[in-house]
Amino acid sequence: MSRPLPDVCDGILIDADALVSRVQELGESIARDHAGEDLRLITILRGGLFFLSDVCRAVDMPLSLDFMAVSSYGPSATGSVRITKDLDDSIKGASVVVVEDIIDTGLTLHYVLEVLREREPASLEVCTFMDKDVRRIVDLPIKYRGFEVPDRFLVGYGLDLDGLYRNLPFVATLRDEVMF
Ligand code: IMP
Ligand code: MG
Repeated sequence: MSRPLPDVCDGILIDADALVSRVQELGESIARDHAGEDLRLITILRGGLFFLSDVCRAVDMPLSLDFMAVSSYGPSATGSVRITKDLDDSIKGASVVVVEDIIDTGLTLHYVLEVLREREPASLEVCTFMDKDVRRIVDLPIKYRGFEVPDRFLVGYGLDLDGLYRNLPFVATLRDEVMF
């Protein structure tokens, strides 16, 4: 039986079947492009963890995982970001793919990429499950993209509303009256 839509949502944007098959395709692309390399998949907690967990199992080659956490401070448009949990391992010489749930303004990831680039990885790429590209403020190089999504507030598959709904196995749109 499929999971019912929560009351706060008004529709499903990416259903569980579409999500699973797109994740598989992205994993296969990553494996094809990085065969033989020291591949490191990195995500930013907590939202990226669901996509990372699925996509890494679709990458059929040896790889390692690492995690970061950041918090934004100040007015959101300033892009001031602080690392609250850093990576455990050095990325020097590694082929790094930063795996994200969604890129919105791009400010968070822009900052994270600058920090990681200074650590001299062999390569540094981005794989995002969703791309809310109409909201982009800073330009980012995105190598792997699951879906372009509209400018709506989304929940599920890692995306939360006040910490809830991350565990939905699909991506749903929030009712406007819940947000405003
Ligand atoms: P950015 O710095 O604006 O690109 O922020 C991206 C982060 O904002 C994502 O990693 C999510 O945590 C959050 N985010 C962006 N859009 C949504 C959404 O529609 N629902 C829930 N969280 C979102
Ligand atoms: Mg996030």
